[in-house]
Amino acid sequence: MLRRLHHDQPDSFAFTPANRAWAEAQMKKYPEGRQASAIIPLLWRAQEQEGWLSKPAIEHVADMLGMPYIRALEVATFYFMFQLAPVGRVAHIQICGTTPCMLRGAEDLVALCQARIAPEPHQLSADGALSWEEVECLGACANAPMAQIGKDYYEDLSPESLGRILDALLAREVPVPGPQTGRFASEPAGGPTTLTRWNDAGRQPHNASVALALAIGDTVKRIDGTEVPLRTPWLRPPPAPAPVPPDEAAEPRPAAGHPADESGIMVQQAPAASAAKPPGPSNPDEGLDSSAPTPEGPATGVVPRGKAAGPTQPAPAAQPLAPEQPPPLLLEPHLGRGDDLTRIAGLDETLARALNELGIWHLDQIAAWGAGEIAWVESRLGSARGLIVRSDWVGQARRLTGRPA
Ligand code: FES
Repeated sequence: MLRRLHHDQPDSFAFTPANRAWAEAQMKKYPEGRQASAIIPLLWRAQEQEGWLSKPAIEHVADMLGMPYIRALEVATFYFMFQLAPVGRVAHIQICGTTPCMLRGAEDLVALCQARIAPEPHQLSADGALSWEEVECLGACANAPMAQIGKDYYEDLSPESLGRILDALLAREVPVPGPQTGRFASEPAGGPTTLTRWNDAGRQPHNASVALALAIGDTVKRIDGTEVPLRTPWLRPPPAPAPVPPDEAAEPRPAAGHPADESGIMVQQAPAASAAKPPGPSNPDEGLDSSAPTPEGPATGVVPRGKAAGPTQPAPAAQPLAPEQPPPLLLEPHLGRGDDLTRIAGLDETLARALNELGIWHLDQIAAWGAGEIAWVESRLGSARGLIVRSDWVGQARRLTGRPA
């Protein structure tokens, strides 16, 4: 596959202020002199901002990282994840055309794209909403044929199911990713023939990859928000924030924008928040890591299970609140049954019920929170302000779900 820069290039590229702050935070993750290691996330953010990677964008990233243009160009032209030409403003469909997918009908999927989107790959549809291309094996051969759309995989496809997915995207909805035939994961099409208890009641409705995609919900999001937000039918809009005391409402609210690397297309930005606090860190991760007290160190009114309150422990310094960001919320728990959230030390039955009321039912939802989501949840838990960080709910949820930090 020939991967070349597009013939029609813009004059310049610059990150939006939020994306620039995010990019600079990524560069700080690497030792001095090793900033080039941030090349892939920065190119990816540039692509998310513009929809595709232009020559000025590649050069801009190379300048930020102090590396020769040719090195950045090598990376951008090597990976299929980087689009070197403009793509559909709603979605770009990447059909796997390697042998297992081809034997299972990928050519029919390509024919559908040619008929419904454009005759040639990398050509925009008439309304500019969609584009497509054929790519090499995406590593989901057991669920062939498949396609990647945005950040998610759509598997066990047929022309009919891919057509329905295109219809949903054009209606500004994000279809549920994963197998499209009712298969849970990559078990035999007729159901498992061994380990059959796996199929018993209690199984989650979606495999882990799909469940995480639904919880994060940023599959085809453009970070600068130029595209009309897509709808995710499995999410519900966030409830209204708690009433704001008049004296707090009168104060200015600094950093009312989003944190630089927030994600999640589907939920609306919450109205002005309840508490006027100093601005939070530009990177939500910064609100979660070493500066956050651990479950071992609660000091103000919260006692993890099995621990006695330490009357002589000093109170930790107040953590600055990040701008609020609503997390993805569920209308109901998967398979009608939520996780036991009280497995998180410092999260009791009352708080679990309050979280359920908000639409938070599962540990992996909590494991995905950043500083903005924590601020949003805390502002709706009333007296629990500061509890989530002090008791490290996110870290505990990540450990309980096996999710890496
Ligand atoms: S051949 Fe299509 S995912 Fe591997």
